[in-house]
Amino acid sequence: MNIIETENLSKQYRQGDLSLNALSNINIKIPEHAFAALLGPSGSGKSTLLNIFGLIDQPTQGKLIFCGQDISHATEKELTTIRRHQLGFIFQGFNLVPVMTVFDNVEYPLTLLGLDKKARDEKVNAMLDRVGISRFKNHLPDQISGGQKQRVAIARALITQPKLVIADEPTANLDTQTATGIIELMYQMHQEFGTSFIIATHDERMSSHCHTSYQLHDGVLQ
Ligand SMILES: Nc1ncnc2c1ncn2[C@@H]1O[C@H](COP(=O)(O)OP(=O)(O)O)[C@@H](O)[C@H]1O
Ligand SMILES: [Mg+2]
Repeated sequence: MNIIETENLSKQYRQGDLSLNALSNINIKIPEHAFAALLGPSGSGKSTLLNIFGLIDQPTQGKLIFCGQDISHATEKELTTIRRHQLGFIFQGFNLVPVMTVFDNVEYPLTLLGLDKKARDEKVNAMLDRVGISRFKNHLPDQISGGQKQRVAIARALITQPKLVIADEPTANLDTQTATGIIELMYQMHQEFGTSFIIATHDERMSSHCHTSYQLHDGVLQ
């Protein structure tokens, strides 16, 4: 099965009288268990495409099929259910909740799923251990480094055991050595949990781990 499939998917942004083709006729099939890179220069449409894959934005034309389900006609409630159960996100700027501790940031997606406190604690403690940040669990995001923040974000993305993790330039704000650790951690998580990853990146080292890569140029898949 494909985790993501699109049919003639396009996206225009309108600004006043101007219309910009951010994505043009994208036909892509991303198989289950992929560890895939999405490459392309700045402004080529990577974030726009990832936001559509992650059901946080919608195409202007065409179809998105998520795990075999055409989501063009899904209700907001159905989309929310898929987002909470099947998707995880990792961003360049980490996007942790600044007033919540490391533990609470990772716990939050499980709270949304309605798990009880005991089950949440067990899962979160195991995950924090796995990504090597247990000793920072009571810290706020401001009190840890960029690499540690990205480990928290990886833990948060994987805590619900989603089918797909979407990562938008996850190493762009990190120094080389830290970035290597983050790439390796994502790859290990992919192998251990069988989670698919789609990663927008300029990072050459990322590409060496990726089975598949897709290239965008001016909104067109090459
Ligand atoms: N919300 C928006 N409104 C208008 N134009 C946008 C918006 N978001 C992105 N764009 C434009 O769409 C194109 C693709 O952007 P983006 O998907 O962010 O590319 P990338 O992530 O590859 O840098 C760019 O020309 C960008 O300026
Ligand atoms: Mg981008």
